Amino acid sequence: MSDPARNREPSDRRLAPVAPSARSDVPPFMVMDVMAAAARIEAAGGHVIHMEVGQPAAPAPATALAAARAALESGRLSYTSALGIPELRDRIARHYAEQYGIAMDPARVVITTGSSAAFTLSFLTLFEPGDRVAVAVPGYPPYRHILKALGCEPVLIETTADTRWSITPEMLLAVHRRTPLKGVLVASPANPTGTMMTPQALAGLCAAAEDAGIRFISDEIYHGLDYAFSAETAARFSSRAVVINSFSKYFCMTGWRIGWMVVPPELVRSVDRLQGNLTISVPTLAQIAAVAAFDGRDEMEAVKHGYEENRRILVEGLPRAGLDRFLPVDGAFYLYADVSRFSRDSFDFARRMLEEAGVAATPGIDFDPLHGQDFVRFCYAGSAAEMEEAVARIGRWLR
Ligand SMILES: Cc1ncc(COP(=O)(O)O)c(C=O)c1O
Repeated sequence: MSDPARNREPSDRRLAPVAPSARSDVPPFMVMDVMAAAARIEAAGGHVIHMEVGQPAAPAPATALAAARAALESGRLSYTSALGIPELRDRIARHYAEQYGIAMDPARVVITTGSSAAFTLSFLTLFEPGDRVAVAVPGYPPYRHILKALGCEPVLIETTADTRWSITPEMLLAVHRRTPLKGVLVASPANPTGTMMTPQALAGLCAAAEDAGIRFISDEIYHGLDYAFSAETAARFSSRAVVINSFSKYFCMTGWRIGWMVVPPELVRSVDRLQGNLTISVPTLAQIAAVAAFDGRDEMEAVKHGYEENRRILVEGLPRAGLDRFLPVDGAFYLYADVSRFSRDSFDFARRMLEEAGVAATPGIDFDPLHGQDFVRFCYAGSAAEMEEAVARIGRWLR
């Protein structure tokens, strides 16, 4: 006979609940609420145009899928070295020569589990608890949340149209003079704004940071998705900068969880040891697929042309629909619209636009604790037909 005590839930024991650490208390994404509301509408038979989640609708390139299938057939997928498989590190180094015309030592390339893991690795490698690290607002929230969870202090630098929504050397140094900074992180093209730094602006900020002893981190995850002008890598300006990139966006491989970073030669060993301890290595199947993804560029360029068309539809159509104030739509697949003429509560605006017009977008408060109540982010990674329909629905709704 079985002993009933053996099957008892451990929670039957009367102990105090397990309290989470203070550092784990990071805010959730509001976009999750939008997604849940959209799912409820769809479950009830409604049709929603999804412009809330920042990910490509297309699959990974066929070359990557074929390489992954072949690897699965071959059987064993073992751990790799913590820095990544040599084929991928070499291929990424070659990418710097092909894309930017710069020589890159593969020894400086580290494979990571998406760019997300590269943030944790770079922050741990560069900063001590208590260090102050500047990030732009509006900006991608996990930068500040990861910094906080690691005991660093995110310092929000507010950007405006005056500086094309990016941090300038003057802004950085003014903050640094008040209380010293240890690092600064920028993204170009950026999320949620879709704006880009000109090569001169990027070079100027990188030089100013380094002259002041501030570590420079460049999130280049949206490289390849540039429409206004070509994105430049911080690797061109300095071998001391940490450059972070990913296969998630241009290569449409979000769920494969694979990215990379380029680190100064003197930091490679620290990153190696950290990654070995934190995760052992990056998923092997994704690494093999990523090598082959570089052979699928024609496919990816076709996807990019689709985004360009979507961008045109929105840039021309949204003003006619009533949303005529948005930031320069330079790159990535985001359009960041000022909706303050209609509402000073972007969460409520997004909720009503979803319920009444069937268009899901992300409220700016996810990205900007200062002025996010006035903005909504539209992701235009869907189809051209969806973009046309979204413009028509918003136009009818705002009329
Ligand atoms: C600016 C930016 N950086 C990094 C990431 C993280 O992407 P991943 O971890 O998939 O590379 C995202 C995801 O949306 C992003 O928008």
